Amino acid sequence: MEEELKRLGQEAETELNQVADEAELEPYRVKYLGRKGMLSTVMRQLGQVPKEDRPRLGQRANEIKRHVEELFDIKTAELTAGSAIQLQQEDLSLPGRILPTGKLHPVTQVMEEICGIFEGMGFAVAEGPDVELDYYNFAALNIPEHHPARDMHDTFYVSDSILLRTHTSPMQARIMENLDPPLRYIAPGKVYRCDSDITHTPMFHQVEGFLVDHKVSFADLKGVLTSFTQRMFKDDIALRFRPSFFPFTEPSAEVDIACVICGGSGCRVCKRTGWLEILGAGLIDPEVMKMVGYDPDTYSGFAFGLGVERIAMLKYGIDDIRLFYENDLRFLEQF
Ligand code: FA5
Repeated sequence: MEEELKRLGQEAETELNQVADEAELEPYRVKYLGRKGMLSTVMRQLGQVPKEDRPRLGQRANEIKRHVEELFDIKTAELTAGSAIQLQQEDLSLPGRILPTGKLHPVTQVMEEICGIFEGMGFAVAEGPDVELDYYNFAALNIPEHHPARDMHDTFYVSDSILLRTHTSPMQARIMENLDPPLRYIAPGKVYRCDSDITHTPMFHQVEGFLVDHKVSFADLKGVLTSFTQRMFKDDIALRFRPSFFPFTEPSAEVDIACVICGGSGCRVCKRTGWLEILGAGLIDPEVMKMVGYDPDTYSGFAFGLGVERIAMLKYGIDDIRLFYENDLRFLEQF
């Protein structure tokens, strides 16, 4: 056994000297140093030698294996360094490896663009919680318990008094109860409703905006929103204010823009109307003002809440809102 170990050690060393390139390293390692390689096979036979010889032969076998491993490491370093130098000498102009880079989600891009436009008009940005108190989502916005308007919101409740906010309007109450006018804020964020079809998703994004000061009128609201849509889309985009109802604004309106998918002639996205609703708006209801401690005879204000996915669909001509949330890279990489 001792003789066989010695002979194997020498054979492994001689053969390692003959290894001439990187490709031969792995077959060599498998042959001599692998789990089923020659050195391991001999070591497994140690169990058959007389008990008194076993420690000595075991130690010898380990020494030989370690020695061959060390020589193998040196050889590997020599051959791989050689190939790197050779590569550099051959062609220094080889292009580097292109690493895949991430991109912002199209909804995030549009959200940033929307916020940028309003910030340009002097609005400050504030963010609030997705998991909201019933009080801010409804009661503080003039929607008391059992009010029919609650049904329109398809709310996900966490408990009787806690819910996933159904709109960003709770931020009006949260900001107004802490600060005095004049105020000019936008509040972007995620909102949740139990709703899903080609223009609705259960989680979507809104940007709330509101302004409170002396003598704020509907004309101010119209001016700000017209300026916003012109910057977001194009200067001659058609805009229409439709009378509507929100318990926290009076008067209230829903704002549509001409469907940019069909150009106003009617398609499945605009439900053949030629218009697409992008936001709800109005003058802040005096009741909401009173609840945050403002005197409605001294101050007035406007508020609006727009759907970010809707704007992104119009901007990019996307006809199904669910595409944003399927995580299909072929879709997402286009933005
Ligand atoms: C509101 O949520 C009001 N808070 C808006 C508001 C704010 C009115 C301030 C007055 C003053 P509405 O439910 O209409 O309103 O939603 C506003 C916008 O969110 C809609 O115009 C639409 O663009 C978008 N939206 C509504 N539901 C969904 C949904 N399930 N998926 C995607 N977008 C939606």
